[in-house]
Amino acid sequence: MNEQPTRETTLRLEAVNLTKRYEDGVLALDHINFAVQSGELFVMLGGNGAGKTTAINLFLNFLEPTEGEARINGIASHREPLKAKQHVAFVSENVMLYGNFTAIQNLDFFARIGGKTDFRRNDYRDVLLRVGLPEDVHDKRLKSFSKGMRQKCGIAIAILKDASAILLDEPTAGLDPKAGHEFVRLLDSLRSEGKAVFMSTHDIFRAREIADTFAILDRGRIIMQEPASNLAGKDLETLYIQYMAGHNNSSVAAAGGIHA
Ligand SMILES: Nc1ncnc2c1ncn2[C@@H]1O[C@H](COP(=O)(O)OP(=O)(O)OP(=O)(O)O)[C@@H](O)[C@H]1O
Ligand SMILES: [Mg+2]
Repeated sequence: MNEQPTRETTLRLEAVNLTKRYEDGVLALDHINFAVQSGELFVMLGGNGAGKTTAINLFLNFLEPTEGEARINGIASHREPLKAKQHVAFVSENVMLYGNFTAIQNLDFFARIGGKTDFRRNDYRDVLLRVGLPEDVHDKRLKSFSKGMRQKCGIAIAILKDASAILLDEPTAGLDPKAGHEFVRLLDSLRSEGKAVFMSTHDIFRAREIADTFAILDRGRIIMQEPASNLAGKDLETLYIQYMAGHNNSSVAAAGGIHA
């Protein structure tokens, strides 16, 4: 790996007192702290509006923090965005790909944007096969792809970037059970390669299958953070509801948006 030496070489993603107040006054994140190491899969749960996407957008420097830092390989995203973003790949729920381009053309386009010009067709074929897209669709336009197929193409792009950290915003939303399962296996193999993976999700069932660390975000605050090993044998859904209820006496329903 060509990683720059950092203070702690395995610490890939760090939120340090990360705070975001939007212009209209909404406090979306309130001094959150977490860290994701190389080879760790960190899952952030939380209802609609909890602040998950805001946190990811701060790592990607799509937003400026009000206070604190989102660090990638020790580099604060808002201070050195280009340098920081070299080390991270992003997969969103609605993967932004070009509908008029084929799968191979999309991979080529995004690889070149990322400064990688030495890939050949075989490299693209191999990575598309790895994510489970069969050869007969490699030259089909993305607009003919289903959501799951687009998602696979998005993760193929992330794999080609070969970044040390991967951010995923609700990656399994809308995937059928088989596609969801395959997706989780793929994340597992990336983790085995030493990637640091951060995933926001409402999907407790998938999270349980794969996470090393769980956090629950509620109205901009982390109200629970535990290694998966501490939760072994516990029903995560019940635990989630208990945490939300404990933190918000008014109503568990206010947590919203939890779909197992
Ligand atoms: N551009 C914006 N301007 C103002 N407020 C915003 C903006 N984007 C998000 N918010 C607010 O910030 C809070 C956190 O939103 P965010 O999208 O980060 O939540 P989320 O956890 O990703 O939710 P979901 O599960 O629905 O995707 C919400 O109260 C939301 O209304
Ligand atoms: Mg979101």
